[in-house]
Amino acid sequence: MSQTPVITLNDGATIPQLGFGTYKIAPDQTAAAVRTALEVGYRHIDTAQMYRNEQGVGQAIREAGIDRADVFVTSKLNNGFHEPDDARRAFDDTLAALGFDYVDLFLIHWPLPTRYDGDFVSTWRTLEEFKSDGRTRSIGVSNFQVAHLERLARETDTTPAVNQVEVHPFFGNDEVRTYGRTHGIVTEAWAPLARGAMADDPEATRIARAVGRSAAQVVLRWHLQRGDVVFPKSVTPQRISENFAVFDFALGDAEMDALSALDKGEAGRTGANPDQFDNLNT
Ligand SMILES: NC(=O)c1ccc[n+]([C@@H]2O[C@H](COP(=O)([O-])OP(=O)(O)OC[C@H]3O[C@@H](n4cnc5c(N)ncnc54)[C@H](OP(=O)(O)O)[C@@H]3O)[C@@H](O)[C@H]2O)c1
Repeated sequence: MSQTPVITLNDGATIPQLGFGTYKIAPDQTAAAVRTALEVGYRHIDTAQMYRNEQGVGQAIREAGIDRADVFVTSKLNNGFHEPDDARRAFDDTLAALGFDYVDLFLIHWPLPTRYDGDFVSTWRTLEEFKSDGRTRSIGVSNFQVAHLERLARETDTTPAVNQVEVHPFFGNDEVRTYGRTHGIVTEAWAPLARGAMADDPEATRIARAVGRSAAQVVLRWHLQRGDVVFPKSVTPQRISENFAVFDFALGDAEMDALSALDKGEAGRTGANPDQFDNLNT
């Protein structure tokens, strides 16, 4: 039903390149927003323990009457649960909240290199258990820098299927993306609209006028043509539809380059630098 392209991960699973993000959707609004997204045609939902809205995600999928196998569901381990036994309990809680017996993808949400004596390796080995017992189809990481990925490569047997990191035209994050591309790790671009700021950007707006689209659509197209996975978030039905209508036009090289030129480096981040981020209580 969906025209969304799929990308094959390094473990053979496939992921729809465009999904629906749920960060900051209140628990009691989540089922309604996800229901709208499923009606529009999204078949990939990104949630996390931290968002406290996994229950609404599972509820909306069940109530939509869509086969579980036809929706790609991602969740993420919260920062307070990196110790293996805590991670096992938290993963059980994720499946219970969603009401499913598996997720498609489970991620370490942040590497927290200044916490847990710098050990995210034992956490990763615990995610390997979840994959081998079939309760997650794929495993990956989020907010991992190149040094963190190199450490997993040295010390563990499984290459993450994805690395979900901040990427948008104001913050291209190209060092991390390049490492992923050369090591078989798909980049998922979080905050693809820079938390909404791209919709008002003059350059994105200029390109949008030229191609007869909205600035948000043009920016989502930029991500898709760069090969990243994206899941814009919205609670606004009209925007949920708008963000999905991005498969019937394309940007040329000049338009792609003009958006890439908006990169401000570190100053372009909307979120924390993963080398410093250490908040366990989110
Ligand atoms: N792994 C991580 O650490 C991490 C961090 C952040 C995000 N994420 C994931 O990535 C997803 C997306 O990131 P995000 O939610 O932070 O930011 P985003 O998708 O870049 O932006 C969301 C904001 O943009 C607005 N918006 C959406 N579509 C729009 C449109 N067509 N025109 C104008 N404004 C529009 C939304 O407003 P309304 O909702 O009011 O319509 C909302 O305020 C998250 O939901 C989450 O699933 C992961």
